[in-house]
Amino acid sequence: MDKLIIKGGKKLKGEVTVSGSKNAALPIFVATILAPGINQISNVPFLRDINTTIKVLESLGASVEGNGHVVKIDSDGINSHEATYDLVKTMRASVLVLGPLLARFGKARVSLPGGCAIGARPINLHLKGLQALGAEIVLEHGYVEAKCKRLKGARINFDVSTVGGTEHLMMAAATAKGETVLENAAREPEIVDLAQYLNRMGAKIEGAGTDTIRIQGVSELSAANYEVMPDRIEAGTFMIAAAMTGGDIRINDMKLEHLDALAFKMQDAGVEITSRDGVVRVKAPKRLKSVNIKTRPYPGFPTDMQAQFMAMMCVADGASVISENIFENRFMHVSELLRFGADITVEGNTATVKGVRKLSGAPSMATDLRASASLILAGLAAEGTSEVTRIYHLDRGYESIEKKLAGLGADIVRVKE
Ligand code: EPZ
Repeated sequence: MDKLIIKGGKKLKGEVTVSGSKNAALPIFVATILAPGINQISNVPFLRDINTTIKVLESLGASVEGNGHVVKIDSDGINSHEATYDLVKTMRASVLVLGPLLARFGKARVSLPGGCAIGARPINLHLKGLQALGAEIVLEHGYVEAKCKRLKGARINFDVSTVGGTEHLMMAAATAKGETVLENAAREPEIVDLAQYLNRMGAKIEGAGTDTIRIQGVSELSAANYEVMPDRIEAGTFMIAAAMTGGDIRINDMKLEHLDALAFKMQDAGVEITSRDGVVRVKAPKRLKSVNIKTRPYPGFPTDMQAQFMAMMCVADGASVISENIFENRFMHVSELLRFGADITVEGNTATVKGVRKLSGAPSMATDLRASASLILAGLAAEGTSEVTRIYHLDRGYESIEKKLAGLGADIVRVKE
């Protein structure tokens, strides 16, 4: 297993380009199931989760060329309607193949995703939506068995805003008979990216990015090429890295409007953020001010930036209150941040962070994807040397983050443990 060794205290300078979005690429890869043919997907990040999705598609019979940047997916050969536990357990998002397999073959058998470190993450709303479209769903032996000759459009109202649920039902409804309306739909930019790809395949989807999405079912879709949007969470992570190290960086190819909630909170903390022609400049203040945040569905403050923002508040002046309202167990980075000398207390879904002058370098262990990022950020700002182990969590969602940070002047290396 690899680990990262970081010598803290370097101010980040220069420019960086983020990779394509993991959370846009994954559902886009799954959508290729809906239409036989060759789909060329570009700006795909080299990530473990991308490799896992490729394995799932190949297990279904697709043939895939490449595993990053440009990936060619030939979905013509897909002939199985079953996604097994050993694949789904490594990445929950693979459960999204259920709807497209059902739409294409009239039946599907997909393992229920296992638990996850950050929360139970049920898929009840996915299944309820598929049933509303006419699917017969049976849960047995840890699998979802679904059947339906042809899905039929319906009005679906989500109890809670669910990114995966919205994506799942958008894909299943694309070739259903008649109109489907998704109400209280999630509004994340990754959903807009998926809708744009589906429409390029011939789907008729309107309203993606708002809380009401209308889908006119079409009889068939055809393979299409697509360029994945930039990864806004990777970009947000670099913004915070600059802010915590007294840095001044520019991030290329970034739509700041995808991170408005984060940018406004960072500006409240005293960080200078400007954007021109797709380049975002982030300039740190002498001392960060403490700021309170509450995670919310988009366009609220993104839960995927909560751990990173907490790391920043560890060195801000004053106390900040961070409440995590999306997942029930997304504070596992707290106990690791305490090892760096942070002052954090947790009460239920609320963490209170009292800023300290300086963090001190320490050995630490990653527990989930975004928690690993927050430990790296702490190491960059800390005095002395830090280590982050179990960075296979990190490799799920960040392409060569240590190289990109080193390119900005950080002293960070990956070594074999
Ligand atoms: C997506 O997960 C992202 N993953 C997550 O990013 C992100 O944190 C999350 O959306 C929220 O923004 C991908 O896109 C691959 P949800 P998803 O369904 O779709 C509850 C990362 O770090 N819920 O929006 O699984 C659920 O328990 C990952 O890149 C139900 O109750 O999230 C949660 O509390 C982590 N029933 C809330 O909704 C359901 O049927 C939001 O979950 C579905 C969800």
